[in-house]
Amino acid sequence: MALITWTKEAYGTNVAVADEQHQELFRLLNGLHETVAGGDRAAIGKQLDGLIDYVVMHFQTEEKLMQEKAYPDFAAHKAEHDKLVGTCADLQKKFHAGEAEVNQDTTRFVKDWLDTHIPKVDKPYAPCLNG
Ligand SMILES: [Fe+2]
Ligand SMILES: [Fe+2]
Repeated sequence: MALITWTKEAYGTNVAVADEQHQELFRLLNGLHETVAGGDRAAIGKQLDGLIDYVVMHFQTEEKLMQEKAYPDFAAHKAEHDKLVGTCADLQKKFHAGEAEVNQDTTRFVKDWLDTHIPKVDKPYAPCLNG
């Protein structure tokens, strides 16, 4: 079963590009979640890198849009992004050095982060970004 399923009700932001990227993000996260269950370390590493690359690209997309519209909560929003990217970069480095493993606690952590961030932090940017 998928770890996380995108629905408009729960995760729709009313910003098309964000909704599209969130859906792809969920797809990549579900893929990693399935792969960690299989335990193939090389495959896990590949998917981890792919997910993190996509997260970074997504955050850059949102940050560019917020800056273009001079979104008042830009700094706080970016700080949340930066914190997650820092956590991910640290884990990625340790994983590839053989000093840490990626398991379903990891994918659940990312799911919980998205579960909070998208409804509480992303959704509020819609009126400004669509304005
Ligand atoms: Fe987002
Ligand atoms: Fe965001």
